Formats: sequence, C-alpha cells, structure tokens
Amino acid sequence: MSTVNDMAEMPVQLPRDPANAAEARSRYFNSGNAFNIKLPPVPGKIFTEEPARAFALDRTGFVNCDLSDQMRCPFPATTPLMLARYAAVKAGETLDSTLTNTASIWYMIKGKADLAVGEEKAVLGKGDVFLLPGGVPSQITAGEDSVFWLVGNDPQLKFDASAPLTGEGAAVSFVHYPADEIAHQLDVVYASNANASTSGHALIFSAEKTEPSRNITPTMTLSLNTLKPQSSQPPHKHNSAAITLVLNGDPAYSMVADAKCDWSPWATLVTPPAARHSHHNDGNTRAEFLIVQDGGFYYHARTMGFEFY
Ligand SMILES: [Fe+2]
Repeated sequence: MSTVNDMAEMPVQLPRDPANAAEARSRYFNSGNAFNIKLPPVPGKIFTEEPARAFALDRTGFVNCDLSDQMRCPFPATTPLMLARYAAVKAGETLDSTLTNTASIWYMIKGKADLAVGEEKAVLGKGDVFLLPGGVPSQITAGEDSVFWLVGNDPQLKFDASAPLTGEGAAVSFVHYPADEIAHQLDVVYASNANASTSGHALIFSAEKTEPSRNITPTMTLSLNTLKPQSSQPPHKHNSAAITLVLNGDPAYSMVADAKCDWSPWATLVTPPAARHSHHNDGNTRAEFLIVQDGGFYYHARTMGFEFY
C-alpha cells in the first residue's frame, strides 16, 4: 500500500496484474491530482523580426511565429490552436505549400506568383487572400520576389494527431479573394450604416462551403478590420485567440492586457484568449488589419465569452 496520504501528491496508479498489453496500457489518476497541471498562459506578443526575415528573401521557405517554448507546447504554435507564418518565395523558385491542417488562410504581402492547388490554378497579386485546403498538394511559383502571411490550424490537428480529410469530405475548398474584389466588397460595407452593436467597419471572409456558419473554415474566422482616422475600437474580450497582421496604421497601436503594442508594417500581433484588448488609430489615414481567430471553435462549443468593458 502507498504511504502517501494526500491524494493530490499521489503518483500515477498502474494496473495490478495486467492480462495483456491493452490492460497494461491503462493508467489511473484521482480527483486531487488529475486536474492540477498548470499550463503557462498564452503570451501577448508582437512579432517584428519574423516579417523582417521573410522580407530579406534570403531563401524560399517559411518563417514561423513560434511561441511553443513559452506555452510549453510540443509542436510549433502561435496560439494553442493556430500557427502564423510568413512565407518567402524568391523569383523563379517554387514553394511547396501543402500543409497538414484543415486549412490555411493566406494574404499576399508583395510580389506576383502562380498558384496550383490540385488541378486548379490561379494568378496571385499583392493584397490577394486565398484559402488552401490542408493535405491537397499545392505549389506557389514566384514570378517576382514574393512574401506571404498565413495562419493555419496545424496545432489543432497536431494536438490530437489527426489528419485533414481531402476530396468529398474536405471541410474547405480552395478559394481565391482577389485584392480588387476585396476593396470593392469593403466599399459596400462602408456604404452601409454601422450599427451600435458593431465595432467599426469590417469585412468578414466566408466561402461557399462555410456560408451557413459565416466563417471561412469550421474553426477559424478571417476579418479585414478598419479604423477611421483618430478612432479606436472599444475594449473587449473573447475566449478565442486572435492573430492580427498589421496592414496600415500610421501610427496605430493595440492595448493587450494593459500592455501597449505599437504597430509596425506587416507585424503579427497575438491577442491571448480572454485578454482585454482594444485597437487604436492615432493617424490621419484609415488603419487596416487582418484578424484570424479560432472563433468558430468557441462559437460551436458555446463558449465564445464575448464582452465589451
Ligand atoms: Fe477582439
């Protein structure tokens, strides 16, 4: 018998006399020790060196915005369920963009490139957004030096060692949102009256397959948010984590859990889940930022927890 009296101090309990390998794999914990693993919090962070490395265009490849060490996460991750990266593709070179996730949301920061996704093809230009289904072979071939920003739910799949379904059962299809169409659709939003329950004018990206949920993938949302000159978004919080790419803001900043994060071109900002935050445009031009959230996940679980302060 164990001499440990406090159940919280007890080690893992093993089967006494397993009859086979399946029984031998069983483990037991108790109500005192099973739930006291303390994970480090998701840090607030603004990534500025990673875009600089991508813009150096030394080589074709990915630059991860990786906080896995700080989160004690055994695989690359920017937030527990999402990974943001920059991708650099040198003129004349090809990047294999086939990834193990449900989908990745891409924004083209600069350049010109040809994209092949399975049997489909597209010509990409600056400001284009596209959605790549995970597990479907895809390549980007750059005509000019090109830089991209992308967010995928790779950590979500890594967490439970799952793989994306492709073909008929796939959660998303390849979708292309050209820059001029995005500008037009944002103008349509600007021409409408903002109502009191919205926070600024934002264009929300969705797709044929995910139209009923109004998301871009089952678990992720993509929003092009704007702030008029000299305006700010009121402080709020939600249980989804947010990964933001700064497009324009001169000058602009975010407050994340009382820390001021100054924006710089193409920086990536991490807003931890449930952190109080707000975005501020001190400049005389429109501020624009792209926000990916794992909001679909929390919305489906009925745990979004959105609140204004
Ligand atoms: Fe937010």
